Amino acid sequence: MTNSTAPDRYAVVGFPVKHSWSPFIHGMFAKQTGQALTYTRMEVAPENLSREIEAFFESGGRGLNITVPHKQAACLLARYRTPRAEIAGAVNTIAAQSDGLLGDNTDGAGLVADLTRNLKLPLQNTRILLLGAGGAARGVLGPLLGAAPDYLEIANRNAERAIELATEFATLGELRGCGFDAITTSGHFDLVLNATSASLQETIPPIPPSVIGPTTLCYDMAYGKGDTAFTRWAKNAGAGRAETGWGMLVEQAAEAFFLWRGIKPETKPVLAAVKSQ
Ligand code: ATR
Repeated sequence: MTNSTAPDRYAVVGFPVKHSWSPFIHGMFAKQTGQALTYTRMEVAPENLSREIEAFFESGGRGLNITVPHKQAACLLARYRTPRAEIAGAVNTIAAQSDGLLGDNTDGAGLVADLTRNLKLPLQNTRILLLGAGGAARGVLGPLLGAAPDYLEIANRNAERAIELATEFATLGELRGCGFDAITTSGHFDLVLNATSASLQETIPPIPPSVIGPTTLCYDMAYGKGDTAFTRWAKNAGAGRAETGWGMLVEQAAEAFFLWRGIKPETKPVLAAVKSQ
């Protein structure tokens, strides 16, 4: 039984999840917009995912964010999926609807919002180099190509995976997949996006410095205190700008908040707050 006067319940599900910033971010959004809600962390092992998600919504929960390693599995648990979740093959946001659970993926939209609105990089007619061909890369490819770049190259340690991903998304834009050793080196890219998990191991993908120029924005989808291994490398290699993924994190959360509450929160003060922590 749910108490109709109690605040609506939301949570982030991950394994592990204790370092998640989502409760802080959604707490700030709720305060700013005057929404009565609670937002907690749920640490759930993969074998319990379906049961725990079901129990959360059966007990009156209104929405979940889904993080590593559950995004692909959660895609199969939602009754309906938005087109962007379908294309990504992954779900990072679930909303309770009267006729079942809706799965969405706000990661790509969050990335594009950070790049275009916060970092003022219009993606139209640009050349993008995307490093990585795993879940994180797949999750942002649709919205990136939707922003109409001239060309997008996917480079990955395992070249086959990059080629397969490029083939899968070929109808959405001009793109090519390759290994790090076959990256196009004639002229620099406007945007070099790191979607590998190399930063988490304090390493960088072996890419030629010639892909970077004084106007290149290097963006690491990973984030942490200060620079990542990738943004450090990019600055040394002469990139015009190097940014970590805090903005994407806050913007994808704002998209989720909008899906749940129908209100778009102000992201600027929240981004400033998480960066200063
Ligand atoms: P995620 O969901 O975070 O994308 P994933 O699906 O396991 O996780 O993919 C991890 C990505 O990081 C892959 O592109 C992986 O390259 P491979 O496909 O060749 O495994 C890449 N990756 C992980 N460690 C890396 C490293 N040290 N150097 C370069 N790429 C790395």
